[in-house]
Amino acid sequence: MSVERGSPVPVLVIGGAGYIGAHIASVMAARGYLPVVYDNLSHGKREFVQWGPLVEGSTADAGALRSAVKDHGIRAAICLAAFIEVGESVLDPLKYYENNVANIIAAARALQGCGLRALVFSSTAAVYGEPRQIPIPEDHPLLPVNPYGASKLMAERIFADAYAAGGFPCVPLRYFNACGADPQGRIGEAHDPETHLIPRACLAALGEVPPLQVFGTDFDTPDGTALRDYIHVCDLAEAHVLALDYLLRGGVPRPFNLGVGRGISVMEIIRAVERVAQRTVPFDLAARRAGDPARLIAQAADAGRVLGWKPKFTDLDDIVATAWRWHESRSARAPTG
Ligand SMILES: NC(=O)c1ccc[n+]([C@@H]2O[C@H](COP(=O)([O-])OP(=O)(O)OC[C@H]3O[C@@H](n4cnc5c(N)ncnc54)[C@H](O)[C@@H]3O)[C@@H](O)[C@H]2O)c1
Repeated sequence: MSVERGSPVPVLVIGGAGYIGAHIASVMAARGYLPVVYDNLSHGKREFVQWGPLVEGSTADAGALRSAVKDHGIRAAICLAAFIEVGESVLDPLKYYENNVANIIAAARALQGCGLRALVFSSTAAVYGEPRQIPIPEDHPLLPVNPYGASKLMAERIFADAYAAGGFPCVPLRYFNACGADPQGRIGEAHDPETHLIPRACLAALGEVPPLQVFGTDFDTPDGTALRDYIHVCDLAEAHVLALDYLLRGGVPRPFNLGVGRGISVMEIIRAVERVAQRTVPFDLAARRAGDPARLIAQAADAGRVLGWKPKFTDLDDIVATAWRWHESRSARAPTG
């Protein structure tokens, strides 16, 4: 997509008031695009929308989505709108299939009817299920073990089939563990409830949540705790810009893994937060959770080779420092008493 000086190209960021979407919007604005955020604010935050207009609406609302596309002259979009809690998806699968599948069908239909030329879709490593090989390549069997992962895989399939039948092309980006925050401290990770390790470790260090639970200490890993591939949210954001460019240049729609290709253990994260924060992270040891693999590590070479993507945040302490700064400043601003 060519970006001319003085005329930012509008891109619809569906779910752009959430953690990852807001970081994508900030990076897109820095690259000369106008991020038009479309979000129903079910989990997003109005104050995270800082780089373009906010259109409040649901993926289920075809009329509102079409108006947003028409009013802002949209030709390309990124879709992050989804529910994201694995545990909740097991307890209430229909909630997940409704929002992450049924509402995505409604959105796909609406977008197809208004001349969209490219879509980048937020997918997840959860589409692979229990890994049969490490690192995990994109052609690994797709056997999700929970409704969340299944719902994202269904959405990938819906976009692929709709494209094969003459619709717009879609690149699914399968994120591993998104983490970190805007280096300038304007936005950060604030899910409710927060189940992700780095923010929970920061909040535990600040005394804002009970001690962290370390699930599983008997995995077949160097320190017995589970290994995950942590990828900085700003690196993820860059990949979305590259994936949109790829599609608009006529690239063949296909999925890409986004990870660093390196496994970091739960204990290594705790120690990194302690180093960066100069505080203790209180934690308790707990049993493994059902369905938690020992290792989830991406083979992300294709995103480098095909899209030209290269993660810039490779040092764990640098990544953790961006998250810590945001949590610490937020905590300092929070009203007391
Ligand atoms: N956070 C991670 O580590 C991670 C890992 C893999 C994949 N993903 C995917 O990335 C995407 C974004 O994740 P996040 O961590 O930013 O979550 P988030 O909850 O912070 O953001 C999701 C946003 O989508 C909005 N939304 C939800 N349903 C909507 C609907 N029907 N219509 C309009 N807006 C709606 C929410 O209000 C929220 O702003 C999700 O699709 C998730 O599956 C996240």
